[in-house]
Amino acid sequence: MIEVRSVTKRFGKRARSVEVLHDIDFSVGTGQIAAVIGQSGAGKTTLSRIISLLERPSEGRILLDGTDVSGLSERRLREQRRAIGTIFQASSLLARRTAAENVALPLEFAGVGRAERRARVAELLERVGLSDKADLYPRQLSGGQRQRVGIARSLALAPKVLVSDEATSGLDPATTRSILALLRELRDDLGLTIVLITHEMDVVRQVADVVTVLDAGRVVESGPVIDLLRDPRSELGVGLLPDRSHITADDRDVLWHVTYGSDTVPTNWIELLGTATGRSIGVLSGTVESVGGRPAGRVTISVAGDHPSVGELLASWGLHGTRVDDNTSAPATEEAAA
Ligand SMILES: Nc1ncnc2c1ncn2[C@@H]1O[C@H](COP(=O)(O)OP(=O)(O)O)[C@@H](O)[C@H]1O
Ligand SMILES: [Mg+2]
Repeated sequence: MIEVRSVTKRFGKRARSVEVLHDIDFSVGTGQIAAVIGQSGAGKTTLSRIISLLERPSEGRILLDGTDVSGLSERRLREQRRAIGTIFQASSLLARRTAAENVALPLEFAGVGRAERRARVAELLERVGLSDKADLYPRQLSGGQRQRVGIARSLALAPKVLVSDEATSGLDPATTRSILALLRELRDDLGLTIVLITHEMDVVRQVADVVTVLDAGRVVESGPVIDLLRDPRSELGVGLLPDRSHITADDRDVLWHVTYGSDTVPTNWIELLGTATGRSIGVLSGTVESVGGRPAGRVTISVAGDHPSVGELLASWGLHGTRVDDNTSAPATEEAAA
């Protein structure tokens, strides 16, 4: 478990110092995958370096399984760093070393003997699906394969926590999916706690259990991804499952924005609503999908004529309905996160 407690980070000398992180608080449970998302300049890399113990906070603490690791001496800090594997960008592999030699690097630094090193490297390459590429150089590997080598290297010293700063940025969507699937597999098999720093919504949607949104060095939203998806007011939730703009309806129709709020929403709720109200129900836009195996969705519907029980009926099926008074307006959601 990682706890980030009231972390503030300033760079530079007193009068001219800049505060890059302000009072950051969140925690990631053991075996969870957490995403930290934010735009460029939000402070993500600074935060990832603090969590990786490469940088000390100006104020606040980092707790690793309950132990304060932010105030340790340099020597103790070096020991603790082994508990945290960092996935650097794929380009950080050494060009003159083969895949196997790159993975062996942390083991060499840690003084692991040759035979043990060899066995461990073979095991790590197998874990990331690259046993047959051991003797190739980085330039002979695809972007996704290079990132797998980076992941194998980060696992070399058997860390409890993996931290990645934009590990999938620059990869195409299919490769990103396969890297994220690998990280999930590692979490499941090794019980790792994983912190993914990213600016990509897709990363959050595909693997994160919990998410923290950083904006200009502050936490603006934080919590389980499914909770944010089910909160009609969550900006991140809307960004993850946008209900962008709907097709136009008849002036006499009443529009409702509907957010899935539970695991038990009946898949035929639109039909049920039509039957219960005796009204014709139109679908104007929407996204419904499974996120971490649980239903999430945002849909805009039209109800022909009005009916007093729509909100109540929606609530009875685990949906949050918001009546749109001006049916010419698009949802108040939008590109914020797009
Ligand atoms: N060593 C540093 N000295 C001074 N300012 C820095 C330093 N590192 C980062 N910053 C500033 O902190 C802010 C956040 O940077 P960074 O953590 O890299 O954000 P992100 O990874 O979200 O793009 C930026 O304004 C950046 O210029
Ligand atoms: Mg960055």
